[in-house]
Amino acid sequence: MKIIKVNLKEKSYDIIISDGTITGSAGIIKKSGLGNYAYIITHRSIKDRYGRLLEKTLKKNGIDFKFKLLPETEKTKSIHTAIRVIEDIVKTGKSKKIFLVAFGGGVIGDLTGFVASIYKRGIPYIQVPTTLLAQVDASIGGKTAVDLKEAKNIIGAFYQPRLVLSDISLLQSLDARQMRAGLAEIIKYGIIKDKILFDFLAQNRKNILAKNKKALEFIIARSSSIKARIVEKDEKEEKGLRTILNFGHTFAHAIESGSGYRKYNHGEAVAIGMVCALEMSHRLKILDKHKLEKATTLIRSYGLPIKIKGVALKDILTPLYYDKKFIGKRTRFVLVKDIGRAVTKENIPIPLARRIIADRFK
Ligand SMILES: NC(=O)c1ccc[n+]([C@@H]2O[C@H](COP(=O)([O-])OP(=O)(O)OC[C@H]3O[C@@H](n4cnc5c(N)ncnc54)[C@H](O)[C@@H]3O)[C@@H](O)[C@H]2O)c1
Ligand SMILES: [Zn+2]
Repeated sequence: MKIIKVNLKEKSYDIIISDGTITGSAGIIKKSGLGNYAYIITHRSIKDRYGRLLEKTLKKNGIDFKFKLLPETEKTKSIHTAIRVIEDIVKTGKSKKIFLVAFGGGVIGDLTGFVASIYKRGIPYIQVPTTLLAQVDASIGGKTAVDLKEAKNIIGAFYQPRLVLSDISLLQSLDARQMRAGLAEIIKYGIIKDKILFDFLAQNRKNILAKNKKALEFIIARSSSIKARIVEKDEKEEKGLRTILNFGHTFAHAIESGSGYRKYNHGEAVAIGMVCALEMSHRLKILDKHKLEKATTLIRSYGLPIKIKGVALKDILTPLYYDKKFIGKRTRFVLVKDIGRAVTKENIPIPLARRIIADRFK
């Protein structure tokens, strides 16, 4: 078992990572004094598979609970769903000390955090992430959000969970494509901040893809702790330090949006985006060719795409020009100097970004 503390003064919390965290966690939930009623937000398939684990643990500790089931789609992250959920909490919650449990992937996590942040001006919530992506990324750092049809994650708040319970045993049912989506973010952590993690990923690919629990625990703990350290230094993304987590993401968002969020999932778009950012680092003479190839080979070796297919170039270039991370007219990209060392660079000419994207079609 690995316990990673996110140090945010009175908002500090633990991330607990192990094979069987849920069953071993009731004591911790109770000790945290979150409340006496767990309102668990999840999907039917997750409740059917793993609901009993949570149920048993809560019962043992005298915590009452209810499961709220929501559809398995990004559309669940809407203001309408948030309001429907809050109406249900109001009905359920009379004379109870309620806390919320996000029991699912990033969709459930973002929605639950958002509801927790606005209901009665904020009630406690915990994250029980069930996808690899949510365990290493979405459940940590308190970014909560719902989407509008005009833009993803446009309504939300920074609102930290009180506890993150990452149970590796839940990942056994995750399909290969979803696993790879999480692995793309883990490779990202290796490239921007952690050479040991990068080398481990290169040397243990078979074990990781076979979901060996020790290997998964290692890469999840390493990634979670990188995110935790960055979040504690720049909780609300005001100091520019959190920016390095966006490595590959400027390109990725353009690819996702340009392909109508259909052709590539987020992790796949991040994989191509990271190759673009690595290429840019090389063309700006920041990163040598050998390291560019080493990082690209690692991304490809995990079955992630490194080229763009089935999308029109112009559809990808348009969103790139409107990226919200570009301050005024200045462009800003996260680049790498070395494996494990990221830097932020401004004023990079857009035509270079455009050429790099165009080359991904070859
Ligand atoms: N808040 C943040 O910092 C942050 C960071 C990254 C991503 N996100 C958000 O996270 C969302 C994506 O999250 P995601 O990739 O976890 O996708 P998701 O939540 O949509 O889950 C993907 C699919 O996997 C299924 N699933 C979940 N757990 C499973 C399990 N254990 N076994 C089998 N199937 C399972 C889900 O039902 C769903 O169909 C996006 O909305 C994104 O904006 C937020
Ligand atoms: Zn991402």
